[in-house]
Amino acid sequence: MSTVLLRSESIGVDLSRNTDLSLDKLSPNQQLLPLTALVNDQDHLEIGGCDVVELVQQYGSPLYILDEVSLRLACQQYRDAFAKHYQGQSQVLYASKAWSCLAICAIAGSEGLGIDVVSAGEILTAIRAGVSPSLIYFHGNNKSVAELGYALETGCTIVVDNWHELKNLDQLAKERSASASLIAPRVMLRLTPGIECHTHEYIQTGHIDSKFGFDPNEIEAVFAFVSQSSLNCIGIHAHIGSQIFELQPHQDIGDVMVRWFKLASEKYGLPFAELNIGGGLGIRYVESDDPPSIEEWVKTVCAGVIEAFASAGLALPKLLCEPGRSLVGATCVTAYTIGGSKTVPDIRTYITVDGGMSDNPRPITYQSKYRAVVANQMSAPLAQTVTIAGKHCESGDILIKDIQLPKTEAGDTLVVFGTGAYNYSMASNYNRLTKPAAIVVKSGDSNLIIKRETTEDLLRQDCLPERLRH
Ligand code: LLP
Repeated sequence: MSTVLLRSESIGVDLSRNTDLSLDKLSPNQQLLPLTALVNDQDHLEIGGCDVVELVQQYGSPLYILDEVSLRLACQQYRDAFAKHYQGQSQVLYASKAWSCLAICAIAGSEGLGIDVVSAGEILTAIRAGVSPSLIYFHGNNKSVAELGYALETGCTIVVDNWHELKNLDQLAKERSASASLIAPRVMLRLTPGIECHTHEYIQTGHIDSKFGFDPNEIEAVFAFVSQSSLNCIGIHAHIGSQIFELQPHQDIGDVMVRWFKLASEKYGLPFAELNIGGGLGIRYVESDDPPSIEEWVKTVCAGVIEAFASAGLALPKLLCEPGRSLVGATCVTAYTIGGSKTVPDIRTYITVDGGMSDNPRPITYQSKYRAVVANQMSAPLAQTVTIAGKHCESGDILIKDIQLPKTEAGDTLVVFGTGAYNYSMASNYNRLTKPAAIVVKSGDSNLIIKRETTEDLLRQDCLPERLRH
């Protein structure tokens, strides 16, 4: 693999890494850039063997560029770490809410991962990507009856979130078994574990005051209901939050869950076999972010579960986890074309790009921080502190505040790192902007994975009733 030469002093980002280190020793979630990123002879940023400036010429901008090597490596690191640190069975699921599309689900599937889905759309995407329904787990706190019916038809495992859903599902399962001799649907129960973690309030989910999962105080009633139902309840699930850097909350989860495992089998005759501890491992968006590696995280989770189950005298469950961000987040960058600029004397200089909050809503939603470089002049000295503004009619549409960049001009290519997770999947058409294209790059080849929307696409669902025409 080529030498990595992204000089910290010239781009203000410490991207240097030990070039003796082979790529597979690096945990993708700890890197600011995809693993194959380097500066080529043209002084351009290159990813997956492709010159990013040329990619923008070919595909236009904004453009999501996904590095296949980084994504596959992240999948492999999760899988291999479970094989190394857990003696029981395990299954890693890709939380496709981070970015659900055919190509990413297909890559995750081909690496042996299952898929966590939260809607009929995500189920369909996973299935069309070739993932077996036996490896698809369906989440969500308000699944419609139609979605539940669809999930039953396809044979996914359903992670039941609340009473309303539990009763609907039991009813559906009864109706189905009356009309055909079907095996009982596989379900898991989502419980709120009461574990707090330090992340943005909107992305904490495991504390007691959460809209997700059964309240632990109701657990006995839930177990009693399930034990009499027509559902095959195979285990329990908890997810405590996202973009988490601490290991302790995930270490503690085994201890909390084992008590419920024991209660279910000893008092309600529910022979649980699977434990899903959710996702949540963070990634490095800026230099000061310091997440644990994928292997450290898996090792900690496994140690917690092994110890908890051993001291409870229970056999090890099949252990599942469902990372999203740490699989796909750092594997993708977004390339924009710089437009005009505006200097407010003694205050700041704004540089505008051809996208913004519609392709990356995270800064305006969570005040998330990002790093960026000018891809067509990687070694140029830093010359200005600027604010990167999106093109939307909204003052808060700022992608990055106060970043140091070389001197830029209209037409330059700005590349923002770490945009693989919760960017495309949360993209909108605000101001009727079309959603960007996405490509996958590997060994000098690039392929479209999502076409750029056209303005005609935007009108496709619009209807103009006859009486409104003039
Ligand atoms: N499992 C469940 C049940 C979840 O709710 C989530 C994320 C995950 C797994 C995957 O978590 P991850 O490994 O990606 O942290 N839009 C927010 C993130 C919302 C996370 C929602 N749930 C953001 O952009 O930061």
